[in-house]
Amino acid sequence: MIIIASQNEGKVREVAALPAASGLDLSPISAFGACPDVVEDGTTCEENAVIKAVKYSLWLKREHGVSAPVIAEDSGLMVFSLMGWPGVHSARIAETDVERNWMVLDKLSGKRDRSAQFLAYTALAVNGVLVDSWRGSVTGAIAEEPRGNNGFGYDPIFIDLRSGRTFAELSKQEKNELSHRNQAWTQAFDYLKLHQSIVR
Ligand code: IMP
Repeated sequence: MIIIASQNEGKVREVAALPAASGLDLSPISAFGACPDVVEDGTTCEENAVIKAVKYSLWLKREHGVSAPVIAEDSGLMVFSLMGWPGVHSARIAETDVERNWMVLDKLSGKRDRSAQFLAYTALAVNGVLVDSWRGSVTGAIAEEPRGNNGFGYDPIFIDLRSGRTFAELSKQEKNELSHRNQAWTQAFDYLKLHQSIVR
């Protein structure tokens, strides 16, 4: 069993649908009941992914006697002309996805450089010990206004440069083929496939 340490249902759905997840016995952390909130006080997405993987795997061991590998992810949107903002703060700049998207659009108003990047880090921990972490990234551009209904978060304002469509206008499969999340999780899953003894 492999534990997906995320309370974000959009992320859990995307991860479970990845080609690299096929055939793996995945379980969301929510299957173990209410788990403590982990304070994400790292200064980078990588640090926050590590904090979550280590703390959740320690909690699983202590509270449930479970030594299964735990993978956590932290991700964010980096807008180049805003010095990487919202970055590690992507989930917290406003209350709702719609408000967060408009905040980014307002800050970009009048700026010519609309290039941006989605970044994702996964971290793997067992019994409270960090095993490794991996990075995924995809470069695109911020749209003039939100478009599309698929996906979650900043997908309606993030344009895929090849198709010109926002991530929210892509199908789930099309987004998975490109996404930062796919890259970061595929590396974590491939690691576990090579190191079967960790997966109990
Ligand atoms: P966290 O990793 O749970 O702290 O949240 C990352 C934040 O970045 C969330 O607000 C997401 O909405 C946003 N984000 C991360 N990945 C994506 C994505 O694939 N599409 C849209 N927004 C994303």
